[in-house]
Amino acid sequence: MSGLALVHSRARAGIHAPAVRVEVHLGGGLPSLSIVGLPEAAVRESKDRVRAAIQCSQFEFPARRITVNLAPADLPKDGGRFDLPIALGILAASGQVPVDALAEVECLGELALTGELRGIEGALPAALAATDAGRSLLLPIASAAEAALAEAADVYSARTLLDVCAHLQGVRPLPRAVAAPIDHTVAEGPDMADVRGQPQARRVLEIAAAGGHHLLLIGSPGCGKTMLASRLPGILPPASEAEALESAAIASIAGHPILPGRWRQRPFRAPHHSASPVALAGGGGEPRPGEISLAHTGVLFLDELAEWSRPSLEVLRQPLESGRVTISRAARQADFPARFQLVAAMNPCPCGWAGDPSGRCRCTADQIARYLGRISGPLLDRIDLHLSVPRLSPRDLRQNGACSESSAQVRARVEAARNRQLARAEVCNARLDEHTLERDCPLSPDAETLLDRAMDRLHFSARARSRILRVARTIADLAGSTSITTPHLAEAIGYRSLDRLQTGIAARATG
Ligand SMILES: Nc1ncnc2c1ncn2[C@@H]1O[C@H](COP(=O)(O)OP(=O)(O)O)[C@@H](O)[C@H]1O
Ligand SMILES: [Mg+2]
Repeated sequence: MSGLALVHSRARAGIHAPAVRVEVHLGGGLPSLSIVGLPEAAVRESKDRVRAAIQCSQFEFPARRITVNLAPADLPKDGGRFDLPIALGILAASGQVPVDALAEVECLGELALTGELRGIEGALPAALAATDAGRSLLLPIASAAEAALAEAADVYSARTLLDVCAHLQGVRPLPRAVAAPIDHTVAEGPDMADVRGQPQARRVLEIAAAGGHHLLLIGSPGCGKTMLASRLPGILPPASEAEALESAAIASIAGHPILPGRWRQRPFRAPHHSASPVALAGGGGEPRPGEISLAHTGVLFLDELAEWSRPSLEVLRQPLESGRVTISRAARQADFPARFQLVAAMNPCPCGWAGDPSGRCRCTADQIARYLGRISGPLLDRIDLHLSVPRLSPRDLRQNGACSESSAQVRARVEAARNRQLARAEVCNARLDEHTLERDCPLSPDAETLLDRAMDRLHFSARARSRILRVARTIADLAGSTSITTPHLAEAIGYRSLDRLQTGIAARATG
């Protein structure tokens, strides 16, 4: 007699969870277990775990010729998560679990030798996909609560292989997994009210938030760059439900905890400048998302920009353009979302004190020029806003003067400006394409003349011109103005200070 069983499961590819059919066939011949469709090392380990788990659970491991096929063969598969479906397939094919019961369910889970189930990564994407397929999902307890965050999903949590079998036999139904309650209010992070003075920096932060513009802060140590950057997520409009779910799916794949209490809060990631290209972009044998994907829908803060290695910064290029990152490694490819808002910070010179009223900077003009020149032109080109942040005197810092506006107050203006943009072009200003830019940024003759003169005198590139227009559009939106006027444009031009410095450097280098 030969037995056949089919179990539904899921692989992971990027933030998706493509379907995998686990087919098990029991045939005549010498007892053996062969698994096809998995990488060799994973097969060896999985075989041992599945055999031990079945025996430890007081089931019979069939003394037959067992063939397990994981289809489609070309899907990348990491081993552990298929232990449970393989074990269930063997039990069903040998008549120890009803085959029919497997038709309406999907399952995932790594088995310990004792038959206990261990958690897997990417449970949330699997739950979303299983729901689309109209099937329920059986998961290890450790992964079930996360999967239950997918609201429409039908998730059951199991402690052991035995529990799963009792459920399928209709003897002892598994408990439904419940997600921790999601908090849909915006959790309070660091607040703008804590920032004293710095009207210019507050203004630029608001413009960056309103238009989704990337931002570079230049200033001496302790002037508040980190403090300002960390307050950007709090003045951005709260993440939409779709965005929150996408962020959660990325965290799930990365094996990071998902915090339902901070569901609508946008992420803030601040990797160290020694971070490798892989840590930033993602990678590894089973491609995992990197910092730029963990910052998806939120803020990526690169402190000490001048200290970052070229290869690390190079990986930012594609995602800055497309909002996605593709990781290629040997035959495998993974694609992760990476639409982040970049905030970079740097010192104004090697010692960090150029321009400080204390006069302690001893850097020469050449040293400063070389230092600023380290930031690659193409990266700088993609940053809409540059700002020098002055250092407050100890007296200003101590002063208990009038309280600053709170993040909630700023966020209200930001949301109003965003809504104008979305109603007009469906994207925020930072992502306007050239065509829409021309359509939505008509300039008055005065403004046109001003821009032409600035282009000429300050040697702006065509790219820089578009950046200026996008920022001017945002400034007008914050002011509730349909047209871009000269003051809007003049303010936007003021935020390209590093272009001028770099043009100066280039001019001197060639001159
Ligand atoms: N404008 C400010 N208002 C209130 N505190 C400030 C301000 N600027 C700096 N500080 C204080 O100085 C400390 C150093 O700021 P930080 O953001 O780390 O500076 P940077 O990143 O530029 O080196 C912060 O902990 C903050 O408390
Ligand atoms: Mg800092």
